[in-house]
Amino acid sequence: MKQELIVTRYKLHSCSSYIRKDIRIALVADLHDRKPDELLFLLRKEPVDFILAAGDLMERREEGVSEWTEEAMQEWQGTKGKWPVSDFLANAADAAAGWLFPAERQERSWSEENGRYFLREASKVAPVYLGVGNHEWYYLPKDYEVMQKCHIRLLDNKDVVAEREAAAGKGCILIGGLSTRYDLEWLKRFSRKEGYKILICHHPEYYLRFIKGTRYDNFDLIVSGHSHGGQWRIGGRGVYAPGQGMFSKYAYGIHNTAKGAHDGKLIVSAGCVNTVNVPRWGNPCELVIIEMKAGRLD
Ligand SMILES: [Fe+2]
Repeated sequence: MKQELIVTRYKLHSCSSYIRKDIRIALVADLHDRKPDELLFLLRKEPVDFILAAGDLMERREEGVSEWTEEAMQEWQGTKGKWPVSDFLANAADAAAGWLFPAERQERSWSEENGRYFLREASKVAPVYLGVGNHEWYYLPKDYEVMQKCHIRLLDNKDVVAEREAAAGKGCILIGGLSTRYDLEWLKRFSRKEGYKILICHHPEYYLRFIKGTRYDNFDLIVSGHSHGGQWRIGGRGVYAPGQGMFSKYAYGIHNTAKGAHDGKLIVSAGCVNTVNVPRWGNPCELVIIEMKAGRLD
């Protein structure tokens, strides 16, 4: 079954003194090394200042290649044995769907080259800032080679100044990435920096765990993925999102954070591809475009 890929647009206003001109941002998440052709087709039509890649663009999760194991990665995420019943049901539904929808597997064909190909082509559109997700336990030498060649900014618990935007007189935009294997000391340091702060945080649930309600809840924009929109959408809520369970609020969409109604947003991408045998329902795959107006709305 062909899964729909749409462009979702969010219009934001920022009264931050660090945003002096309007900017346009693309947000991609959860490509998982699937074919990126349709995504690239849409991306090439969008004149954006930069691209935020919010994790799981690749799948590097073979046991024994790095020191990390599936169990260790689950411990980082705090999901080990947390929802045994929903995990069991999700796995059973996926196995059944694999039998019911064999064409779906074809559609989702995986190749290690796809993620690298996407990064190469996306970097021709605009600078790419890359966050690290739970399926990226490690990167291969070939991945680093592409990142270096294409000037991909790998933000593995790290922040940088968005160079081109700063040079164009658009103020000071800082972009940081909180990885699945998080470094909270780095996060605290980043939260104290001056500038318009964008946090790439693959896991929306990390916002709830580590940021919401703390004095570090002062990021201007947080972008996430991981939840795949909850796979099925019923009554405006995603049915099941990994790390969040059933009918969670943060499975997709735009949410206010502590910074108030005009500033301080968490945007969760529903992901660029379908990765499981269960077809999505009411939950299209998406390329997110964020159009940021400088100045207040009112
Ligand atoms: Fe993920």
